[in-house]
Amino acid sequence: MKDSLRIGIFYGTSSGNTRQVAGLIAAGLGKQAKLVDVEFAKVSDIEMFDMLIFGTSTWGMGDVQYDWGKYLILTKKVNLSEKTIAFFGLGDQRNYPECYQDGMGILYEHFKDKARIIGYWPSESYRFTQSKAVIGNMFVGLAIDQDNEALLTAERIKQWCALLRNEMNSEQTI
Ligand SMILES: Cc1cc2nc3c(=O)[nH]c(=O)nc-3n(C[C@H](O)[C@H](O)[C@H](O)COP(=O)(O)O)c2cc1C
Repeated sequence: MKDSLRIGIFYGTSSGNTRQVAGLIAAGLGKQAKLVDVEFAKVSDIEMFDMLIFGTSTWGMGDVQYDWGKYLILTKKVNLSEKTIAFFGLGDQRNYPECYQDGMGILYEHFKDKARIIGYWPSESYRFTQSKAVIGNMFVGLAIDQDNEALLTAERIKQWCALLRNEMNSEQTI
């Protein structure tokens, strides 16, 4: 990954978990990664970065986090054709197995045709029945479960950051 690459980690959080994970991802990617809280983000903030990492938790029964709901409306028409995007999500697979990580799936649906997408993540090691964030046997981004599997978070982030670095260094996506 080039040192000059500007990475923006945009996160939406309601009780702080996604902010915490965004911070860990930033630490994993180095000082070129900047954190942006979607609650206060403007559409023009997106333009400052080459690579965008979008993170959301899931609320209700399969809803995207509240601040993202508003930001998705704002970013409907934004031109992202020169950008690379990766996603991460926070969810609770034990209590919400039928809509696990749906918020991340909603972000993906919104942005998937607008930019190059990287950072798909295997879903085998998770237990859930349904998710809008799954295509085949892959999540559309990194799935984190701080409610049930917080002990796995650090290693998952480490592996995912390595994956992003690899994919940024090649043109290859799945
Ligand atoms: C009322 C409520 C509804 C939730 N709904 C879902 C859901 O539909 N799917 C899911 O995967 N997780 C769901 N969760 C779990 C949260 O996404 C999870 O706790 C997450 O870590 C919260 O992150 P945040 O503090 O960044 O908002 C829900 C949690 C609560 C308290």
